Amino acid sequence: MIGALNHIAIAVPDIEKATRLYKEVLGGKVSEPDAFPEHGVTVVFVELPNTKIEFLEPLGENSPIAAFLEKNPSGGIHHFCLEVDDVNASMKKVEDEGLRVLGPPKIGAHGKPVIFLHPKDCLGTLMEFEEG
Ligand code: CO
Repeated sequence: MIGALNHIAIAVPDIEKATRLYKEVLGGKVSEPDAFPEHGVTVVFVELPNTKIEFLEPLGENSPIAAFLEKNPSGGIHHFCLEVDDVNASMKKVEDEGLRVLGPPKIGAHGKPVIFLHPKDCLGTLMEFEEG
């Protein structure tokens, strides 16, 4: 069911500082910031040869990453994302196995349907599935 690692997402308190580190110090290919008010985050992508790193900075009130950054003030790995052929079929499969899915599929930052699996059911790590 699971395919390639699509991205690793790092929650950051300061996306400009994160961009400087990855662009100027590490020599990475880093995108311009993109605001996603409906998801409560600003996102920057670091393109690697085999996957992506995403920086997530809180945007607006009630950002879903605000509590995470309170616990991890200098930032931290927030989730990782695996590609699946069919998000709805994957959701049914994991729910049938008793895993909790956090809400219905939504359109993610890459314009494709995504779901998130409860970290307590997935080895303590928030897991995202993206159709692709
Ligand atoms: Co993600």
